[in-house]
Amino acid sequence: MTDYLALSEDVEALVRDVPHKTACLANAAALLYMTLPDVLWAGFYLMEKGTLVLGPFQGKPACVQISVGEGVCGTAALRRESVLVENVHTFSGHIACDSASNSEIVVPILVHGEVVGVLDMDSATLGRFSKQDQTGLEQVVRVLERHVFGGDV
Ligand code: SME
Repeated sequence: MTDYLALSEDVEALVRDVPHKTACLANAAALLYMTLPDVLWAGFYLMEKGTLVLGPFQGKPACVQISVGEGVCGTAALRRESVLVENVHTFSGHIACDSASNSEIVVPILVHGEVVGVLDMDSATLGRFSKQDQTGLEQVVRVLERHVFGGDV
């Protein structure tokens, strides 16, 4: 089981007082990808003029733009809440960037109630992500909101 408290602290140590958003998110994606077992993609989509655009990530090349409301990422952005998908093949509108992906979790990044991006994680294993992963990844995203996106959440 992942120690999300330790992971959040490690993410905070990587991004605190580093005034370079891309560098911070690249390091956060790398840390998440190497720390969480059984993950084939970990990274960010960032809101640009109302559309989610691919940001720093680890894994295979992925689709560049996702509209709000589209796919798992766009659904999380629209609802402003995490979306945990045990089986992506049963999620209507799922965007298959990698055919090997079977489960996914997306956590929105919020600053003053506005979605500024999402954290997306994919796995080849059905049901890879649990509620415990969701809570832990939300904790990690809170650190990024505070230190990378300038929110005072
Ligand atoms: N599956 C996502 C698209 C992004 S990739 O997984 C990296 C979705 O349905 O939004």
